[in-house]
Amino acid sequence: MKGAIVTGSARGLGKEIAVMLAKEGYATAINYRKSGKEAKKTLQVLIEINRNCLSVKGDLTKQQNVKKLFESAKKKFGRIDVLVNNVGDFLYKPLLQTTKKELMGVIENNVATALLCSKEAIKAMRKQGYGRIINIGSTGCDELLAPEMTTPYYMAKTSIWLLTKALARAAGEGITVNMVSPGILKTSIVKKEGVEYTSFDEVTNAILMLIKSSHNGKNMAVARWKPEG
Ligand SMILES: NC(=O)c1ccc[n+]([C@@H]2O[C@H](COP(=O)([O-])OP(=O)(O)OC[C@H]3O[C@@H](n4cnc5c(N)ncnc54)[C@H](OP(=O)(O)O)[C@@H]3O)[C@@H](O)[C@H]2O)c1
Repeated sequence: MKGAIVTGSARGLGKEIAVMLAKEGYATAINYRKSGKEAKKTLQVLIEINRNCLSVKGDLTKQQNVKKLFESAKKKFGRIDVLVNNVGDFLYKPLLQTTKKELMGVIENNVATALLCSKEAIKAMRKQGYGRIINIGSTGCDELLAPEMTTPYYMAKTSIWLLTKALARAAGEGITVNMVSPGILKTSIVKKEGVEYTSFDEVTNAILMLIKSSHNGKNMAVARWKPEG
């Protein structure tokens, strides 16, 4: 059966991506750190679409939890066709008030999780000769932006852009690695006058387009929606 993993998907954008993939016929594994209640509800929704979906708890900054997620999905699905690296904590704070712990935390949460999960996915995808990896960026992260309140977050997302390029080159035959960079989502804690928010559908449609694309390995497309006003 076709198998997919979406990281950080008990709620928010990750949940919507998981539902889209289940509707597209993927047995989908969701993952969360603490949101057990939300994960249970999301899994119920997914199982009604595809009874093979599953949920795996674990902070993906820890290697052993990444292994557990991939082992559970491989055991149940037999293969991993799609990985969406959606985990990505946000930090909204003036740069000069940011602590080292906060800086390292936001980078570890966004970048290390994407690298650790991609390495596991690529191992499985190379055996299959096929795979699709999508990283979630943030609009403008490919333009070396340094927004006043979100510089460490943008440092992390720009790193994911570089990581996407490097993984696309290294992944191998039949495996594509792309990044989708949404604008501000309706669920964001940031509320701005006059901003047109990005809808979940816009993001999931972009992901689906990239998953269906047949570019082979070395290509990387960055889909960007609605830059901040
Ligand atoms: N929200 C926006 O406006 C916006 C805009 C552009 C890009 N993005 C990006 O889109 C993605 C999703 O954003 P969102 O706002 O939907 O996120 P969110 O509501 O904060 O949800 C994130 C999910 O990820 C999980 N998570 C966080 N760290 C984790 C870890 N280390 N291991 C496992 N699970 C972890 C959380 O689980 P727990 O609840 O259990 O901790 C939660 O279920 C992120 O990459 C974000 O940077 C968001």
